[in-house]
Amino acid sequence: MQLEPTEEQLLVQRTARDAAERLLMPKAAARDVSGEFPVAELKELAGLGLLGVAVPERFGGADMGAVAYSLALQELARGDASVAVAVSVTNMVAELIAAHGSDALAQQWVPRIVSGELVAGAFALSEPEAGSDAGAMRTTAVKVDGGWRLTGAKQWITSGDHAGVMVVWAVTPGVSSSSGHSNLTAFVVPGDAKGLSVARLEEKMGLHGSSTAQLVLDGVEVADDQVLGAPGRGFGLAMMALDGGRIGIASQACGIARGALEAAVRYAQDRRTFGQPIIKHQAIGNMLADAATWLDAATLMTLRAAHAKQNKQPFSQLAAMAKLFSSEHAWKICDIALQVHGGYGYVRDFPVERALRDVRVTRIYEGTSEIQRIVIARNLLRGNS
Ligand code: CAA
Repeated sequence: MQLEPTEEQLLVQRTARDAAERLLMPKAAARDVSGEFPVAELKELAGLGLLGVAVPERFGGADMGAVAYSLALQELARGDASVAVAVSVTNMVAELIAAHGSDALAQQWVPRIVSGELVAGAFALSEPEAGSDAGAMRTTAVKVDGGWRLTGAKQWITSGDHAGVMVVWAVTPGVSSSSGHSNLTAFVVPGDAKGLSVARLEEKMGLHGSSTAQLVLDGVEVADDQVLGAPGRGFGLAMMALDGGRIGIASQACGIARGALEAAVRYAQDRRTFGQPIIKHQAIGNMLADAATWLDAATLMTLRAAHAKQNKQPFSQLAAMAKLFSSEHAWKICDIALQVHGGYGYVRDFPVERALRDVRVTRIYEGTSEIQRIVIARNLLRGNS
């Protein structure tokens, strides 16, 4: 694996860093209070190619691969984690439709997603009774003439109330492919589909600028040509998309942690106690040293998983490891950053309390840490080390 990013990857990283510093950072604290969804920002990021970083050019994407995508997302998360998660899910949905939709389906939706015409993409898998156990979903699609009729409820859907388009999973009775959870099918559904409504918006601990919706599907009609992959293939598609998505969440965790660590180092250089900057006190220096070491390891693991994905090598286990390690350690890094700030860390004048609230969910969404361990252990069982 090449450890140094290429010139092109660095260019994408610089573009994202500049956008994060110019567009996101100045408003991040205010967005945390207002909860305003970043429509204008997402459109501007689309103009920079950041909503389809790894999407093929023929669908309007930047075609820069998974490493550039990870580098970009880390920068955006360092700027504003709420915007980064909307970017991450939108990229995931665009990549999924581009890779597994028919050419006509991909041409219908993907260029409009990556151009920012449709803000944003949503991934409607989870349900009130089917989070970690995704295969236990109850939303049902029954076959009707020329298509399907979807009925049920979806939960924890990032950007669900703003989605121009979403991928929705449902049980399709009577359909069966040869593999496990063979009766699930994935459908592409427009955000304004008749019968689709928002039942509730969650009030969250962090990521206030990202919306999290409960959706109700009340007889939503979807045409046959909007099936992703083929009927009965939905579960495998969800798992493949989540393998890639987990690199995105690992990147988000690294970006949030980097922002918090930078703030803590700055503070520890400025703040003086007992006649010297606190960074010179060994207790503080040791905490920051641990945090910097964990962040470096997390970043390398994340880029390694991205590199494997980009090179079409197996990456499910690497992505699970990267997400597990990055999210668990990003949480600790943000906690250290807050501790270094002392009482100032606990108030809103400094950015680290927001980082600690924002980073917490990276240990939960797109598969909890416990689910990542299941994925890793099952890979070990199959002989992958
Ligand atoms: N790639 C391709 N296929 C896969 C796969 C993968 N990574 N993982 C599993 N499959 C296939 C299996 O091969 C199997 O097919 P066969 O029967 O043909 O072998 C089939 O899928 C069923 O697999 P399992 O028996 O392993 O399924 P399981 O029910 O035991 O569950 C699990 C496995 C890993 C726990 C899965 O349920 C899981 O990942 N759960 C977590 C769900 C999750 O991450 N949700 C996040 C919601 S989305 C979100 O948060 C987005 C957001 O808005 C931010």
